Amino acid sequence: MADLRLTELHGSLTDRALNSMNFLNEVSHHYPEAISLAAGRPTEEFFALEDLHRYLDLFADHLRSRGYDEPSVRRTIFQYGRTKGIVHDLVARNLAVDEDIHVDPEAIVVTVGCQEAMVLTLRALRAETSDVLLAVSPTYVGITGAARLLDFPVLPVTEDDDLASVVKAARADGLRPRACYVMPDFANPSGLSLDLDARRQLLEVAAEQDLLLIEDNPYGLFPAEGVDRLPTLKALDTERRVVYLGSYAKTGLPGARIGYVVADQTVEAPDGSTGLRPTSCRSSRAWSP
Ligand SMILES: Cc1ncc(COP(=O)(O)O)c(C=O)c1O
Repeated sequence: MADLRLTELHGSLTDRALNSMNFLNEVSHHYPEAISLAAGRPTEEFFALEDLHRYLDLFADHLRSRGYDEPSVRRTIFQYGRTKGIVHDLVARNLAVDEDIHVDPEAIVVTVGCQEAMVLTLRALRAETSDVLLAVSPTYVGITGAARLLDFPVLPVTEDDDLASVVKAARADGLRPRACYVMPDFANPSGLSLDLDARRQLLEVAAEQDLLLIEDNPYGLFPAEGVDRLPTLKALDTERRVVYLGSYAKTGLPGARIGYVVADQTVEAPDGSTGLRPTSCRSSRAWSP
């Protein structure tokens, strides 16, 4: 018997915030007809099995239109493929058309849901014990969960806080704020959105404080009827200060677990050379079967 002792395992296994996600998923499973105000569950009236085959046919046609022969189409769909995912160019087109975000497809890593994108992003950023993540409060349980898995402390930034003061106070305490996690469109769980001025101000403060912003935008495509969409931080970002997280759980289907991260920052090597992208560093497939 190879039984394990809870006290010798990582504290995240008994973390109440992480376990709350399991609890909420179980409640939704038992009461599927209830409207969940926890995870943004897509409405089920649009779930149609035959759509899956249509989407697959569409994707196969897309590959053929790009010159793939039949064995290559089959290999691309069934076989192990590019480590950073095989739909990065489509994600880049989606971002250009729907979000006015123009990025090199190579700066995109397709992930197992947005939550893997969170883990990879936080994993790359947390290097020292003094590192902290700032996060808009109340915040999404998935980001605190990812931070907990990585022992990455989270400092809350409430609506009334001034971000610059929070950053300065953290630095005065010897901490190294690595990034601030925000959901400018229909934040989970508050539902709040930032107006255009607030978005510009946030980018200005981030530039002044030399801070990265992690923008999570799973709900931006769903404004109330008649309400104009505002540009994302990433669309306004002229300095590559924003790492953008996306998910197809709300616009497509959550069961497919497809998300992505756009990280177009360059990375300076110890010898001063630049050019490496954080997205070149993915090794996450090591923990995928
Ligand atoms: C703010 C936010 N980000 C990300 C996600 C999850 O995305 P995924 O299912 O792609 O991991 C959710 C799901 O509820 C969410 O509310």
